[in-house]
Amino acid sequence: MYNFDFYNPTKIVFGKDRLDELDNLVPKNAKVLVTYGGGSVKRFGTLDKVLKGLKGRKVIEFAGIEPNPKFETLMRAANIVKCQDIDFLLAVGGGSVMDGTKFISLAASCEGDPLDLLRDRMAAMKITKAIPLGTVCTLPATGSEMNMGGVVTSKELGKRGFRNPLVFPKFSFLDPTLTYSLPETQVANGVVDTYVHVLEQYLTFPAEGRFQDRTAEGILLTLLEIGRETIDNPTDYDIRANLVWCATMGLNGLIGAGVPGDWATHMIGHELTAMFGIDHGKTLAVILPSLWNVLRESKAKKLLQYGERVFNITEGTEDERIDLAIDKTREFFESLGIKTRLSDYGVKKEHIDDIVTALEEHNMVAIGEKGEVTPEVSRKILEGAF
Ligand code: NZQ
Ligand code: ZN
Repeated sequence: MYNFDFYNPTKIVFGKDRLDELDNLVPKNAKVLVTYGGGSVKRFGTLDKVLKGLKGRKVIEFAGIEPNPKFETLMRAANIVKCQDIDFLLAVGGGSVMDGTKFISLAASCEGDPLDLLRDRMAAMKITKAIPLGTVCTLPATGSEMNMGGVVTSKELGKRGFRNPLVFPKFSFLDPTLTYSLPETQVANGVVDTYVHVLEQYLTFPAEGRFQDRTAEGILLTLLEIGRETIDNPTDYDIRANLVWCATMGLNGLIGAGVPGDWATHMIGHELTAMFGIDHGKTLAVILPSLWNVLRESKAKKLLQYGERVFNITEGTEDERIDLAIDKTREFFESLGIKTRLSDYGVKKEHIDDIVTALEEHNMVAIGEKGEVTPEVSRKILEGAF
């Protein structure tokens, strides 16, 4: 196991009907910017509950953070924060609203050009001041509610990640009932995103992270058990509660501590979202099976372990067992209604050059746990994804 630091200061407030407790968690004298997306939180009553929980505090609302949040939109909010002396941010929504709010928090405190926060992966780490934030998470998927990362799209730089420990939410409300209103496809996206987060941290090479492996396998098995069920029975509280908790635990640093991380599926997926507007979860379902097929030798030990412990695959040659593990993963995504081929999303083979060029422009030229996913390997992965 590698050396690691583990730090996660986010308080989780889990369960039904607890938004009144906002009053205990947001500083009494705070001037709060409540951020949200395209209006689902208004339509389904979540915003009203949040405003009620904030009692007499001064509140300004910022609506319109779009899926795959845009730098330009977030800068409008950051300017409001500066001009109106906002001292607390409350994100009410899915990953896009939570990530966007983290970016607002840093951009509003940053003295230089806020676009620099996205220029390279470590740039945002240099910021030493941020506006404190909390979240009310309405979509179980990204883990943003309990991590220090975010992803923002700018015209100039494309879709870029940033990190800074100052944007760990101070608290996150996880109320499974707030997710009942999600459309089926967003629930399915969330199951796939969580499943792939776990795999990006697990399916690399053995590193003696036995606790991390067993915990990762536990999350995967839980998702296999509940994934379809929570789509079919969206208001079954306990099933949805398990998805919500898996999503949070899948990307809060726990299972990734002390072990290698891959993340190549995410990096290639981000280009697909930026270029074709494909939902984040769907890009992962397309890239992951092909990536495993291309890197089957490098990842053989973990693919075999995954096949055996998650799908009980114990017979056949190693190649047959790996094929079956990949097929079963694809089947799971398809069983959720998520298509797993680039052609299903209108992408054409002639687009491959553009995608590879975008990866090069974004310096994604040696990705994956061993840095072996070069542009040529990405090309093979994309070719195999049709
Ligand atoms: O905008 P509104 O009207 O709220 O509608 C949203 C949006 O259209 C809707 N929605 C959210 N909660 C709802 C709801 N509709 C009905 N009922 C509810 N309870 O769902 C749509 C999608 O929302 P979005 O926030 O975009 O989805 P998701 O949570 O999947 O977030 C995706 C973003 O997170 C980033 C992705 O790249 C993408 O930009 N990620 C963030 C990560 C992180 N911070 O660690 C890691 C992930 O790998 C990912 O990259
Ligand atoms: Zn993801």
